[in-house]
Amino acid sequence: MYKIAVIPGDGTGPEVIREGLKVLDAAAKKYGFALESKLFDFGGGRYLTRGEVLEDNDIEELRKYSAIYLGAIGHPEVKPGILETGILLKLRFSLDQYINLRPIKLYNPAFCPLKDKSAQDIDFVVVRENSEGLYKGMGEFRDKGTKDEVAIQISYNTRKGVERCLRYAFEYCRKRGRRKKLTLCGKTNVLTYAWDLWERAFKEVSLEYPDITTDYAHVDATTMWFVKNPEWFDVIVTDNMFGDIITDLGAMIQGGMGIAAGGNINPQGVSMFEPIGGSAPKYTGQGVINPLAAICAAGMMMDNLGETKAARAIEEAVVKVVTHKLKSLGAGKMGYTTSEVGDLVVDVL
Ligand code: IPM
Ligand code: MN
Repeated sequence: MYKIAVIPGDGTGPEVIREGLKVLDAAAKKYGFALESKLFDFGGGRYLTRGEVLEDNDIEELRKYSAIYLGAIGHPEVKPGILETGILLKLRFSLDQYINLRPIKLYNPAFCPLKDKSAQDIDFVVVRENSEGLYKGMGEFRDKGTKDEVAIQISYNTRKGVERCLRYAFEYCRKRGRRKKLTLCGKTNVLTYAWDLWERAFKEVSLEYPDITTDYAHVDATTMWFVKNPEWFDVIVTDNMFGDIITDLGAMIQGGMGIAAGGNINPQGVSMFEPIGGSAPKYTGQGVINPLAAICAAGMMMDNLGETKAARAIEEAVVKVVTHKLKSLGAGKMGYTTSEVGDLVVDVL
């Protein structure tokens, strides 16, 4: 029995989460586990009516669950930053979800914007540090509002924080067992404090993993390789900011936001799984948004909870639907409604 805290959130979040839960129910029946889900209304709507984002007692409540399943956070009537920091980042930081795991996998080459790339060519995973770096919120203004104003934003990297992320990446790479190659993506040529620490830690930890081939790429070059030679990558480990940027590019080469899922993972605690596409206000309520990213996130959640067979079956069902049914992965262009796509996955399952 798994207790799932469900946060549908804003915009198209509730529509895609509904399909994810439908698929989870089917998987639970087939693979013999039970799910008890409880809905939480955190998001822009609640903020606008009650002025609340996410309070400390909410975090304590969420700690009681096996996992969190999140739709999307972001509302057109709320100033950017309030919900992101007040809800999404607060969840990640308070629950110490120090890994952001983003598989980049192409399921149908017809939906890839890159020429001549097969499904085998685009199959890698980004391990993004999810608790430090530029996201720490450290910095200050000096002489704010004057001509001499200075804004300082600090990238905060602790040896412990970096090392636990690297260790997770090495372990993940070993367990994945594909090419057993781990690439550190950084900027050692310019950011000489942060990336000096990352590089030293990477080299030291690598000694404990002689079976893993290591590699290094600057972040700018990484974006070039994503487009030119994505087949070079197996697992990539990087900091919070670079990971944020390269995983949006990763989503595009795997077919777009409609299929991109991610996990915010605390290996010893409560993890949270989400489609990474956001709340997509312009498609809200129309039944045209692609639920596959949310369904893939549900699959990642089951994998993380140890239901590996169910997770694999969900992924295989998504592959079949993406290969044989959908006309496109884009909202409004799938040839099916949001709930029909959910039904297709359930049928295959
Ligand atoms: C992501 C998002 C978030 C981030 C935003 C919404 C705070 O872009 O999950 O990648 O920057 O991490
Ligand atoms: Mn992002």
